[in-house]
Amino acid sequence: MKIGVLTSGGDAPGMNAAIRAVARAGIYNNVEVVGISRGYAGLINSEFHTMSVSSVADIIQRGGTILRTARCEEFKTEFGRKKGIHALKAYGIDGLVVIGGDGSFTGAQLLSQEGINTIGIPGTIDNDLAYTDYSIGFDTALNTVLDAVTKIRDTSTSHEKATIIEVMGRNCGDIALYAGLACGAESILVPEEPFDIDQVCEKIIQGKQRGKLHNIIMLAEGAGHAFELQKQILDITGIDARITVLGFIQRGGDPTAFDRILASRMGGKAVEVLLNGKTSRAIGIRNNDIIDVAIEEALAHEKNRKSELYNLSQILSI
Ligand code: ADP
Ligand code: F6P
Repeated sequence: MKIGVLTSGGDAPGMNAAIRAVARAGIYNNVEVVGISRGYAGLINSEFHTMSVSSVADIIQRGGTILRTARCEEFKTEFGRKKGIHALKAYGIDGLVVIGGDGSFTGAQLLSQEGINTIGIPGTIDNDLAYTDYSIGFDTALNTVLDAVTKIRDTSTSHEKATIIEVMGRNCGDIALYAGLACGAESILVPEEPFDIDQVCEKIIQGKQRGKLHNIIMLAEGAGHAFELQKQILDITGIDARITVLGFIQRGGDPTAFDRILASRMGGKAVEVLLNGKTSRAIGIRNNDIIDVAIEEALAHEKNRKSELYNLSQILSI
């Protein structure tokens, strides 16, 4: 058997640990493992190279992806996918492991509909695939945000400032919600929950009256624009909040122990599932069990609103 592995879409810390796990578990089971560079773009262009035990050495601790990643518009077309399928068949690849987010999973599902044995591993800092409790990279991104907020908090406190911290999450507010809860943010603004600007302002004013030295507003990028929010706060309260947009710092860095272990477990499971002849499956984690579900089901899952966590954050930030 010969299997391919690629990373696609936004990179996430822990992708390397997942690549390593797929390569090592494959080789352990006498499977030839082929690394495909630059996601679906590399698939279309046959950027294939056979992996060895040592080609994945010294990467479990590294952020980014040694396979590189890409967003490939051509793969969204039938013609582009046909080129990819042709390349896989010409190289004798029987199975494909795709590490990425929901866009990459959609591509994987279309490949499996064309007869390619395809398995998806969730690798995205956004944690926006609701079928799995966690995706690879989320925990590291969360800890990166917490580290940044700890530093920002020191200077905000010294200067008695309100601070807007914008984090990633175009459609999913998990980074903002979990980081906001973990750092005790006064307000958490996520795309899943409507918010009232007057309430945000009231918290700043009440906090000041209580002698609070800072006010942290955790904003998911999908919930609004930091500069608009800053202007609204200034207009309503006269307070000039500072803005920090954390940006790509959230996608880099050494993966946490949690992400390394999650990636290792998911990579091992992907190979096991392929060896068992299953196809079109998505690997996930639920209640600490590594599971596999149909990719179709994984993509069909409604976004989990995490209302319990959100409501708790509201209670704790009075
Ligand atoms: P992520 O996988 O992190 O969600 P993207 O949404 O950018 O990132 O998707 C990554 C890649 O997956 C895209 O560049 C494209 O090559 C492929 N892809 C995304 N959506 C589709 C689709 N509807 N059909 C086929 N391929 C897709
Ligand atoms: O990796 C996911 C993500 O970080 C989203 O939260 C964000 O909207 C997007 O990627 C931005 O990535 P890029 O600038 O590469 O399109």
